[in-house]
Amino acid sequence: MRIQPKNRRLGILLSGRGSNFEAIADNISAGRLNAAIAVVVSNIENAPGLESARRRGLETLFLPSRKRVREEFDTELVAALNARDAGLVVLAGFMRIVSSVLTDAFPYAILNIHPALLPAFPGLDVQARALEHGVKFSGATVHFVTGTLDDGPIVRQAVVPVLDDDTPDSLGARILIEEHRIYSEAIELVLSGRCEIDGRRIVINH
Ligand code: GRF
Repeated sequence: MRIQPKNRRLGILLSGRGSNFEAIADNISAGRLNAAIAVVVSNIENAPGLESARRRGLETLFLPSRKRVREEFDTELVAALNARDAGLVVLAGFMRIVSSVLTDAFPYAILNIHPALLPAFPGLDVQARALEHGVKFSGATVHFVTGTLDDGPIVRQAVVPVLDDDTPDSLGARILIEEHRIYSEAIELVLSGRCEIDGRRIVINH
């Protein structure tokens, strides 16, 4: 099945510093990524990423999530994304598990980035766990979001060697550089309509 988002309008969801969002916005501004940011949504009111989006003159939205039923929050989120005609939802450090309300509304139209080579080290404390495990390579993964955490079909990965004297911070910083590169590449690939889904494998048509 060919994957084709309905348009090139991105709905960005974030909860924190927003460096992946900034890399995407920079690539759009520089003409390296053909897309538009429809809205930047955060469940954290003072998320630095939300402030950065405001400074860039983008539409922002704070949707409080604390003590909210997941499905109710996601229903509001879907309404907000649809109201701005978002065609592709981009999770950029969005620290919240999404429900089927969101995934059903945007089938094969939600991307996430994770700072490890999935399926290794899903979840949190990723770099500390990778170092403790003694892996020699880690990296970053962009994948479609399905019902299971950090599990959907993989669009793009980048490999980062682990150094003997790495700390979680030093490894994370080198991985982040790759994240900033591959997230925009993956978004472009998905928007281009060149991705086919075969089982859980994404095949790129050239
Ligand atoms: C990144 O490491 C990303 O892989 C993970 O959350 C972090 C977000 O960082 N999902 P930033 O907010 O984009 O700087």
